[in-house]
Amino acid sequence: MPHIQYLDTRMKNILVIGSTGQIGSELTLKLRREVPGSTVVAGYIPGAEPHGELLESGPSAIADVRNAGTLASVVDKYKIDTVINLAALLSAIAERKPLMAWDIQMNGLLNILEIAREKGCAVFTPSSIGSFGPETPRKDVPQDTIQRPRSMYGVTKVATELLSDYYFHKFGVDTRSVRFPGLISYTTLPGGGTTDYAVEVYYSAVKGEEFVCPIAAGTYMDMMYMPDALDAVMKLMQADPSRLVHRNAFNIASMSFEPETLFAKIREYIPGLKVRYEVDPIRQAIATSWPDNMDDTCAREEWGWKPTYNLDTMTRDMVEHLRIKLGK
Ligand code: SER
Repeated sequence: MPHIQYLDTRMKNILVIGSTGQIGSELTLKLRREVPGSTVVAGYIPGAEPHGELLESGPSAIADVRNAGTLASVVDKYKIDTVINLAALLSAIAERKPLMAWDIQMNGLLNILEIAREKGCAVFTPSSIGSFGPETPRKDVPQDTIQRPRSMYGVTKVATELLSDYYFHKFGVDTRSVRFPGLISYTTLPGGGTTDYAVEVYYSAVKGEEFVCPIAAGTYMDMMYMPDALDAVMKLMQADPSRLVHRNAFNIASMSFEPETLFAKIREYIPGLKVRYEVDPIRQAIATSWPDNMDDTCAREEWGWKPTYNLDTMTRDMVEHLRIKLGK
């Protein structure tokens, strides 16, 4: 086998595609704050423009993954060396718009990888617990295992992993990724995901409103607090490439729970939380097909992954910040 010369990740001129979304809105600011001497371009699509600190703290540019020409000119203009590709339709919405999900997740990724190949960029495109399916072992999912998802979101995530690995092995493009659990944060709401309930219930609890839960009691899924997810991206993209046995994509985990466990924990802080179940068949079918929890040993060994938050410390922080944000 020929020796592949991979390109070093530089993380200096960074393009965040999807900078106004749930992950992007926080990651863009963190990169601007924490990567010394970096230029971080907030990429967005019309209708989802950056505002406030995101707009004011650095450059922004239209970056629609479906438009290769515009993407390439942004990469040229800012001499981008690292692309963080956060454009995606989440799992439940992708079931309703499968062709659009394919277009964004796959044709969009191909555009990015081609530009990265030509211009020597590193690329991060997240995968997910959604890349697994009913044949995957339910508990302690190993890094390398059966991935036969039944959702369009999952199909695109497995294909993202494969295509990203292909560009690394074939062309030396420095692609790296993690399989994110459901991400919980107080800054920007997710939308159209199966794990969104675990964010929305905090808003209902703090507002004193009844929460209508679309996921059945007893359904376990991996979840993670946003600060840990952001640290994972930073740490992986700055990791010594010679230590990486895997690339696309690493299991990362910090907590796994089902709705009742989450509600009981929130009630320790907000005893009045009221919940009613109205199970959504689309979301529930997806959730049931996903495993309970992942084994993240490879991420720990290959690039030092180590989460900080557990369910209790996350809940305390969420409640505290949402009380301020919502004036409650
Ligand atoms: N949070 C995503 C979803 O629920 C999974 O990666 O679709």
